[in-house]
Amino acid sequence: GRFFFVCVFFFFFFFSAPEKQKRDVTKLLQLVMSTKTVFFPGISKIPYVPDAGVRDVLCFKYYNASEILLGRTMEDWLRFSVCYWHSFCGTGADPFGSPTLRRPWNEGDSDMEIAKKRLSAAFEFFTKLGVKFYTFHDRDMAPEGRTLEESNRNLDEITDLALELQKQTGVKVLWLTCNLFAHPRYMNGAASNPDCHVFAFAGAQVKKGLEIAKKLQAENFVFWGGREGFLSALNTDVAAELKHMASFFKMAVAYKETIGLKCQFLIEPKPKEPCKHQYDYDAMSVIGFLKHFGLDKDFKLNIEPNHTTLAGHSYEHDIIMASVFGMLGSVDANTGSPDLGWDTDQFPMDIRNTTLVMKAVIEQGGLQPGGLNFDAKVRRESTELEDLFIAHIGAMDAFARGLRNAAKIIEEGVMQNMLRERYMSFSLGIGQKVEESSCSLEDLEEFIKQNGEPKVTSGKQERYETVFNHYL
Ligand SMILES: *[C@@H]1O[C@H](CO)[C@@H](O)[C@H](O)[C@H]1NC(C)=O
Ligand SMILES: *[C@@H]1O[C@H](CO)[C@@H](O)[C@H](O)[C@H]1NC(C)=O
Ligand SMILES: *[C@@H]1O[C@H](CO)[C@@H](O)[C@H](O)[C@H]1NC(C)=O
Repeated sequence: GRFFFVCVFFFFFFFSAPEKQKRDVTKLLQLVMSTKTVFFPGISKIPYVPDAGVRDVLCFKYYNASEILLGRTMEDWLRFSVCYWHSFCGTGADPFGSPTLRRPWNEGDSDMEIAKKRLSAAFEFFTKLGVKFYTFHDRDMAPEGRTLEESNRNLDEITDLALELQKQTGVKVLWLTCNLFAHPRYMNGAASNPDCHVFAFAGAQVKKGLEIAKKLQAENFVFWGGREGFLSALNTDVAAELKHMASFFKMAVAYKETIGLKCQFLIEPKPKEPCKHQYDYDAMSVIGFLKHFGLDKDFKLNIEPNHTTLAGHSYEHDIIMASVFGMLGSVDANTGSPDLGWDTDQFPMDIRNTTLVMKAVIEQGGLQPGGLNFDAKVRRESTELEDLFIAHIGAMDAFARGLRNAAKIIEEGVMQNMLRERYMSFSLGIGQKVEESSCSLEDLEEFIKQNGEPKVTSGKQERYETVFNHYL
């Protein structure tokens, strides 16, 4: 979902003049703090007002951060995170039209000045919204320079400032990732590129990304293989590319050890767009890849439900598949439009779906160190600054309702009991032997000779659906 706008921004940065600026954190901070620029005037800290009226949209009606559900605060269950790329770099431009969103922080004389303004706008937003985490790509935090060294210097300068703002506000990095898909050098892939020179560039970029993760104490580091895949099998050595990708990940794991970085590595599956055949198609493809190359202990998955629906599964499918394999690390909370075939990255507002997601999250004991990251963008027609708040508040409340519903489902236990009953035949006799993996085909044959035809048992889907709806 982040591909298009990153592209637009990338070109913007790439063709504008590079900035020579000395690193001087104190001076930078003074600048940011002393200008006291308020980017969201008239909006203060968003309160929890459970009995707010229908027209009140700048408050939470379900999300009470400190309220305890099933032994944990709502804040800890939900671990909300705001993404940098859509919310602070996004302009509303689409393949058919120019930017529609005028953001005061995106105006300035140089890319680096803009990057600094954007950072202070972002922190004002995080703290007013009451969200403890944010996510970013290296290139949306600081502009790409003409050389790797220059890009790294830009990143150092801006992340020094980010670190100070993190300390002042207590806001943390949920995850960061390297943009290995927007620059033309990556058009044939990064870690799966047929040219080792490009592979090397990607490695150098990830090395720096990991150092930044360490400096900012990021909780996770994400790899999204936007261009890791192929368009034609004729010009592609798939076996070689997969092996190279695995080597790339092994190098990242090794460097993480080297620098003592303590974060969780995550891979984000997506079936297509921009590539035709992407190696990280869906949760099961990634899990198979990781297990095949012995990487499954070092990685988990960052599931984006709208990528799941693009893969032809239902919204909650990959959350559940990753979770049952112990591989669900984090969730990119967004949604598509059921009647459109592409990645619309809308804010999730569907209570049924948030309930299903939160049920899976509670059942696996939470998402930590992952969280719910709003990889979502306001529509290009939603042009007011307050729309950015309303969108996040609405989606946070949708997940808070989902959490409350799921907690109730689990506390009351009606659905679990129905499920337990359905599988009861595995709790004794021949079923227990199967459960304990101590059963043979001969045993099964003997059982059938004794017991004959099984009786017809209803699956009762509609009963489950009706009971589930009771909680919405
Ligand atoms: C939110 O939850 C906290 C902790 O349970 C509680 O003390 C507080 O009263 C709640 N806020 C409202 C407005 O109900
Ligand atoms: C919720 O999930 C269903 C089932 O996957 C999907 O069809 C629907 O589009 C989702 N709702 C939204 C608003 O994304
Ligand atoms: C987003 O979800 C909708 C269904 O809700 C689906 O039609 C569309 O293909 C999805 N797009 C992506 C990129 O996942």
